[in-house]
Amino acid sequence: MSSRPEDSSKSGYLVLARKYRPRQFREVVGQEAVVRTIQNAIKENRIGHAYLFSGMRGVGKTTVARILAKALNCEQGPTPEPCNQCFMCKAINEESLLDFIEIDGASNRGIEDVKALRDSIQYEPMHSRYRVIIIDEVHQLSRDAFNALLKTLEEPPTRTVFIFATTEFHKVPRTIASRCQHFVFKRLGQQQIISHLQYIAGQEKIVISPYSLKLMAEAADGSLRDAETLLDMVVSFSGNRVQDKETEEVLGVVNRSLFENLAGAILQGRSQDIFPLVDSLVSAGIDLRHFYSGLIEYFRNLLLARISSDPTGLLLLSKEEIKQLQQIAGDFQGEELLRYLLMLQEGETGLRYSSQPRIYLESWLIKLSYLNRLKPLEQALEEISLMKDKAPVAASPKPNYQPAKSESQPRPKSSLRSPEIGLARKNQAAPAHNGPSIFNQEQADELYFRVVREKPALAPILKMVNRVETEAGSIRLIYAHDRKHFADLVRQNLVYLNRVAGELSSLKVELIIEEMGPLSPATPNNRPPATVRETGGEPIKNNSEEARALLQNPKTRALLDTLKGQVIAVRKKPGKN
Ligand SMILES: Nc1ncnc2c1ncn2[C@@H]1O[C@H](COP(=O)(O)OP(=O)(O)OP(=O)(O)O)[C@@H](O)[C@H]1O
Ligand SMILES: [Mg+2]
Ligand SMILES: [Zn+2]
Repeated sequence: MSSRPEDSSKSGYLVLARKYRPRQFREVVGQEAVVRTIQNAIKENRIGHAYLFSGMRGVGKTTVARILAKALNCEQGPTPEPCNQCFMCKAINEESLLDFIEIDGASNRGIEDVKALRDSIQYEPMHSRYRVIIIDEVHQLSRDAFNALLKTLEEPPTRTVFIFATTEFHKVPRTIASRCQHFVFKRLGQQQIISHLQYIAGQEKIVISPYSLKLMAEAADGSLRDAETLLDMVVSFSGNRVQDKETEEVLGVVNRSLFENLAGAILQGRSQDIFPLVDSLVSAGIDLRHFYSGLIEYFRNLLLARISSDPTGLLLLSKEEIKQLQQIAGDFQGEELLRYLLMLQEGETGLRYSSQPRIYLESWLIKLSYLNRLKPLEQALEEISLMKDKAPVAASPKPNYQPAKSESQPRPKSSLRSPEIGLARKNQAAPAHNGPSIFNQEQADELYFRVVREKPALAPILKMVNRVETEAGSIRLIYAHDRKHFADLVRQNLVYLNRVAGELSSLKVELIIEEMGPLSPATPNNRPPATVRETGGEPIKNNSEEARALLQNPKTRALLDTLKGQVIAVRKKPGKN
């Protein structure tokens, strides 16, 4: 409350970080343990002659050192709280007290500097009770300088207090550290930073949203000075009414709408939107890993907004933002959102260690977008067994197949590949009707539409197949190892696919999913046969009569068409002729 701005008359505009440098212990944010210990020592008159303050940048080391200097020299003191009114307090605040020396260890790091200091302090302080010497960034001193300093500490001059500050405690020699009372300054919590920024904003009549403040606190990463500097930057950019967009812009932080868009693509299964969205992240120079943790937090907020009856206290967001979250989350069960959240977290480690974070991110997000309508395996199996019970499998395909009706079904707008590789359309190649027990074009369409209708997320996954191999009565879907997660998803639906394929054709269709080792870019058309993995069975020459018959088989063709695969090899099933 009593944070009085430093005198700004001599320097004109005073940056917030200086203006709001605490002048009393009670104004210091956090660092309670440090402050309490120091105040008790003063009360009990146990003032040490050397202190070491360690901690990250901008958490109050220099600030506390100065307050300590005042507390020791205040006309009312030594006192646990300086008055800031007396001559001594004011002189220290104005940095005009001769017995108050601040040295930057980084620019005065040589032995000469320390020697000069030693010479200057060999006499008793003249103007003050305690001479206070603050050496900032003490770890930067040269070895010689350290040794000279050590000598000084061994025979401390009377009424002189050293305060060493460092951001890198491990670089301070033990010999020095062991002669000091060591205080560890903590990084500040996000909430502490936000409240303090809020306080400053109030004092400065800055209008700013909790969201903007949170972005700043996040970017400050524990440093109150950094947070204040960011607030300064944003205000000088946008004036006293700060818009979130401006904060985002200034901080170079990912636009919140990007989270929204991406979450939307995932939740609504719009996998085709993921590549361009990731592309926009990359071209904006956004750190993908950082972005990913933001996305995790966004889903956490969605979940919270969904299941909490009063999320306002738990979400540091404006009413509208919370409303927006609730609206998005409202279409989903808490359980579903939880599933996304858990899966996102699962991907985090992999992303951190991936040598190709972009590709990792893309595939992981696409996987998530497929999660959309995929039911858990148990549920799918249960439904299948229920279906079997009540509906005797029709030997013939549904005669009243109507693509127009299917058009209105919710199916993915387009596949991952270019739109022209859609499903087999009915006005494409003439359907082949080669006998009664054959999987014809219509049936292929029907297969596809059933997948779209019944398991909309499965259709594009099927299309991610790298290769299709056929053997008598079985279709082998082969996914490259780097598409393993697609294979896994198809595998979860294998029972279903087999059943549908079996219903559409009187031939038994057996789908086999395999993985093969990593491939060069998945362009099925120019894959060298050398990469074909031995799948057992005797190869049949592709141009042989037998192979041609198999390839001409409309059932094979329809499946190839539906799956957009390509026949690389034809083999006899092992043990068969
Ligand atoms: N704990 C805190 N409470 C209130 N303000 C703080 C605190 N820490 C930092 N600040 C703000 O940040 C500014 C800089 O703090 P200070 O100089 O004490 O940081 P420091 O820890 O010495 O950092 P560095 O290691 O970079 O020297 C202060 O003027 C103040 O505005
Ligand atoms: Mg400092
Ligand atoms: Zn005073």
